[in-house]
Amino acid sequence: EQTLKEKAPFPIGASIDPTHLKTNLRYKNVLIKEFNSITPENMMKMNMIQPAPNRFDYTKADELVNFAIQDKKRIHGHALIWHESLPTWVQNFQGDSLAWENLFKTHIQTVVGYYKGKLAGWDVVNEAIGNDGGTRNDNTNQGSIWRRKLGADYVARAFLYARQADPDVLLFYNDYGQESNPKKLQAIISLVQDLKRRNIPIDGLGLQMHIDINTSEAGINYAIQESVKTGLKIHISEIDIALNPSNSTLEKPTAEMLERQRQKYLMVVRAYKNLVPKAQQYGITQWNVGDADSWIRSYLKRNDFPLIFDVNYDRKPSYYGVLEGFK
Ligand code: G3I
Repeated sequence: EQTLKEKAPFPIGASIDPTHLKTNLRYKNVLIKEFNSITPENMMKMNMIQPAPNRFDYTKADELVNFAIQDKKRIHGHALIWHESLPTWVQNFQGDSLAWENLFKTHIQTVVGYYKGKLAGWDVVNEAIGNDGGTRNDNTNQGSIWRRKLGADYVARAFLYARQADPDVLLFYNDYGQESNPKKLQAIISLVQDLKRRNIPIDGLGLQMHIDINTSEAGINYAIQESVKTGLKIHISEIDIALNPSNSTLEKPTAEMLERQRQKYLMVVRAYKNLVPKAQQYGITQWNVGDADSWIRSYLKRNDFPLIFDVNYDRKPSYYGVLEGFK
């Protein structure tokens, strides 16, 4: 019977966690059979990979990389610089701007250098733009320590440092909310257009697409179209389509919800295929593998059913929506 990766006209991926890979055979089988690209959900984040100053620990990330290499899957690195998932020592770091710049550059170049030749691309900077379209230059939890300590242009330097460490890996800017927040979308587009104008090495744009069954389709089309105009490779990097955004307890999805989710997956995949020129198609990655391992359950603590495989890793109607979208 046909699988996603056999029918997909571009890479089709999932973000994964080494724990499930080891403990859940159905998870592993679906991953092997259906996907040809993986993104480490957490294991390449700074708190995991540099837990102490100049102590780099690749053990968990390498489990995923070795699994992917063995199974001939593409690997997308996530995420070198982000204001979340920072190790405590960085959050408490007391240093002058030179020391901060050195910490920043050392992290990027050590990690990119270590994975040189193994990854297709990196999310070099994740979520630098705030929901207000600003650069997260505030002291709330939405503020970025990198923005505060290094100045707004840290984004450009992150890309320069990454390129110096690996001449070939594709360098992405990754963010969320483009489909529902025109101000944020515009700020992201302006940011990457400015980087391109200055010949800062950037190859791709990640649209995370953490959406729900009510997300505007006009908004989705507009976000993809505007992103394509940058000429960068386009990665739908973390898609999931929640059924229960209002946070009410949802024991079981209704048939109507599952049908609406199927239509939304179909719409997004078809829009990507039709609106993104072949040369700019980096692919579509879903965030997590099945409903049971979705971050929405573990991180947001909300009982939702956002993916295309159910809690038993069986195919949902949405799975067939994705397949249909490939045509
Ligand atoms: O592994 C530890 C465990 O040992 C410990 O007992 C437990 C309780 O403290 O924490 C566990 O780590 C958690 C980790 O997920 C693994 O479950 C972290 O606390 C938790 O912060 C982490 O959440 C991740 C979140 O990013 C923050 O890094 C989610 O799994 C992950 O799905 C989510 O992914 C992000 C993308 O990176 C960027 N885009 C948005 C997306 C969703 O927020």
